[in-house]
Amino acid sequence: MDRTEAGERIEKLRREIETHNHSYYVLSNPLISDYEFDQLMNELEALEKEYPDLITPDSPTQRVGSDLTPEFRQYEHKYPMLSLGNIYNEEELKAFCDRIEKTAGGPVEYVCELKFDGVSVSLNYRNNSLYMALTRGDGNAGDDVTRNVRTIKSIPLRVSGSNIPPDFVIRGEILMSRPVFDRLNRERIQDGLPAFANPRNAASGTLKLLDPKIVASRRLDCMFYFLLGEDIPHETHYKNLKQAEEWGFRISEGISICRNAAEIMDFVKKWDEDRKKLIYDIDGVVIKVNSLALQQEAGFTAKSPRWAAAFKFRAEQVTTRLLSVSFQVGRTGTVTPVANLDPVFLAGSTVRRASLHNADQIGILDLHINDMVYVEKGGEIIPKITGVDLSERDENNIKVSFITRCPECGTPLERNEGEANHFCPNYLHCPPQITGRIEHFISRRAMAIEGLGTETVDLLFKEGLIRNFADLYELRTEQLVPLERLGEKSARNIINSIRESAGIPYSRVIFALGIRHVGETTARTIARNFRSVDELMNADFERLTGIREIGPRIASSIISYFRDEENIEIIRRLKSYGLNLREERKEERKEEDQEEHETEEGRKEGMKEGKKEAVLAGKSIVISGVFHRHSRDEYREIIEKRGGKNVSSPSSNTSFILAGENMGPSKREKAESLGIPLISEEEFLELIGEE
Ligand code: IVH
Repeated sequence: MDRTEAGERIEKLRREIETHNHSYYVLSNPLISDYEFDQLMNELEALEKEYPDLITPDSPTQRVGSDLTPEFRQYEHKYPMLSLGNIYNEEELKAFCDRIEKTAGGPVEYVCELKFDGVSVSLNYRNNSLYMALTRGDGNAGDDVTRNVRTIKSIPLRVSGSNIPPDFVIRGEILMSRPVFDRLNRERIQDGLPAFANPRNAASGTLKLLDPKIVASRRLDCMFYFLLGEDIPHETHYKNLKQAEEWGFRISEGISICRNAAEIMDFVKKWDEDRKKLIYDIDGVVIKVNSLALQQEAGFTAKSPRWAAAFKFRAEQVTTRLLSVSFQVGRTGTVTPVANLDPVFLAGSTVRRASLHNADQIGILDLHINDMVYVEKGGEIIPKITGVDLSERDENNIKVSFITRCPECGTPLERNEGEANHFCPNYLHCPPQITGRIEHFISRRAMAIEGLGTETVDLLFKEGLIRNFADLYELRTEQLVPLERLGEKSARNIINSIRESAGIPYSRVIFALGIRHVGETTARTIARNFRSVDELMNADFERLTGIREIGPRIASSIISYFRDEENIEIIRRLKSYGLNLREERKEERKEEDQEEHETEEGRKEGMKEGKKEAVLAGKSIVISGVFHRHSRDEYREIIEKRGGKNVSSPSSNTSFILAGENMGPSKREKAESLGIPLISEEEFLELIGEE
């Protein structure tokens, strides 16, 4: 690899690592396993070692990951919170021991401990009392989570016993036991909330909650493993932990003194097996030099102590039979191979399917149908195939080959230079791409159209009632009613929800369009930088890439989206239905956000109290301006109770605007252009029969 290539690879690795750091620390939703993450970091470190002039201060190698959250106050750690270097096999373990023993000039005592997989916390005690609990944060400063930590029963708020230093720091891992985790997830699923992927994410999400009462109800626990301070009582790590246990801290029983690599290996093997019996997840073993004097002599690198290391377990693995491979076409045309497996139990659930990523992956694995394959949970979430047990291969097994034509529409597949995925280029007519785009458009984070699920969309498409998402706005109740499973009432609700979606803010409409590579965050960036979709449509490559968050890949995708006549026509139609395809002025926006919130509440109210005389049945009404006889809230209620719908923004479906004084100019303009009648407060009261 020459210098230019190394530079490019370094950049790519940095972007990838940053994405994973964000998923792990901020979203609590890791996408790859720790092992895979370490491989990326190792490669980056090796390249930066070879080309030190390419190191930049913002490279992920120059910091430890951060979990800082703006809602919490941050304080500096008295002693930085470092991470540990990883060891994956016996050879690396021997190298670690050799290094230490060389420093010591003789045999060394090691302490082996379980590596608990939770969230690390640093507790500060003074005069026997806990006064501050910090998360790891960026290693130098952490979030102050004292209020939450105080609710954890196994953490002593006051310590007692002998040899307690006036000031000390103790570190441990906050954990959620598997039974508590399972119960919490069951409750969350019942409440329609997303389940946590694993106990670590649940513990980390819980620790960052703003309400300590909820934290208390989640029954967290804490296992301690490191005592620090000026006057700590003993000369060895082991004795200090045992002493801390006497003061009231919870120390794991899985702790043992070992004298060489072989003894350490026995400890690792024993716990790799026995970990299934624990109620807490562990992901390895931590090996520490026992003598504090030798620890000091061995010292630290910039990121981790030289006197300790983490021996990481391989992710839990099972073997099962590969029954077949299917190919799925997503809304952007990407074709994903999926392995269908003989069902097998793995790390807490039954696995039937596993992701195969792309053609390269299938090639690397050299997969054959009927092979016995190794399955792992990547980051403990999405199962994947990591290898084939060749000793079990039958010579008649047929090699898996990647398809050449789209399984849905028969179009020859394509693959872009430098990209790993095949895709179906039949953007306009490939059915799952069409329905996928419509499903994306109506989804909760986009236009939030209710009552339309995947099956109904498929049905509408099959019946020829919709060919794209603009067609949704032409649907009539009578067309929906005859469809399977749809009664009159649901049909009406769907139509109402479609009409109401005209009030969805501009940035979400941009997201809903489903432009390749434009996710929610990019859509918001676009909305901030382009006041209208017309402005976006006319932007060239330079203008787009001039925006910090928009790179060449996104820019090209936006340009090609607007090159397509069909898309332009869809946007023209969406405009004519009154969708927000331009940013409204700031003050106006705020007012509408509030209204949206109010409308949602109003809907619930209306449901609770039942409808009164339905003089406004089927009417879609916008409230705007200042009123004298009732407050806006009361008008909202009046409308709901009389069968009407209060919508936040005028569209071609709006029946009328209840117009008070000082109505917002943009609403007035929009109403005029759409020919929507304005009704004054007096006229409205007359209409509903109130004097
Ligand atoms: S010792 C300087 N001991 O693993 C020594 N860490 O990557 C620092 N962990 O951030 C840590 N169990 O969150 C240590 N028995 C144990 C541990 C442990 C889990 C976590 C801890 C740390 C990470 C190291």
